[in-house]
Amino acid sequence: MKDHAQVVSRLAAQMALKAGLPDTEVEEIRLAGLIHDIGKIHVPEYVLRKPTLLTAQEFEIMKSHAAWGAKMAELSRARGIERIVFHHHERHDGTGYPGGLSGGDIPIGSRIFAVADAFDAITSDRPYRKARSIDAARKELQRCSGTQFDPDVVEVFLRFPNDLWRELRAEITGQGKLLSTLDIANSPTQAKI
Ligand SMILES: [Fe+2]
Ligand SMILES: [Fe+2]
Repeated sequence: MKDHAQVVSRLAAQMALKAGLPDTEVEEIRLAGLIHDIGKIHVPEYVLRKPTLLTAQEFEIMKSHAAWGAKMAELSRARGIERIVFHHHERHDGTGYPGGLSGGDIPIGSRIFAVADAFDAITSDRPYRKARSIDAARKELQRCSGTQFDPDVVEVFLRFPNDLWRELRAEITGQGKLLSTLDIANSPTQAKI
């Protein structure tokens, strides 16, 4: 879990680059990634580590981390980032939180985030289940494309080869070769979000 923020930050930044977003936005997305769950310092440990399903009340406490994180970004004058952090648990179909925004109303950074965050969650161990494969994550993201996730963002994600994700994670956890910019440049063609 300690690498989660770094992994999500790098994945989201790579997707933003591939989607052709301007450099300033890519940078905002990268920075927002590093602090997106910082609001969890306001969530008690028993909720964070609970191995079983959260009660409605516990879920409300958990949900508050997005607003707390945005507040902290705002206080640190990390302009532009607080909106991405605030909305990082919205869903494409409008059933997410905290704003209940849908589709294009969700900031692009948050939409990219949702996919990067889910990918890292699925492929990492959690208190309640073991990590799953990259291929399983691809299938899951595809399954939830159009409901939980922006289909265009999922499409950008699916254009990256598995090796790229594997190497990116290995680079962050210090267990692999460095990801060269050549690998990134040679990965499949650019898409627009
Ligand atoms: Fe979160
Ligand atoms: Fe997260």
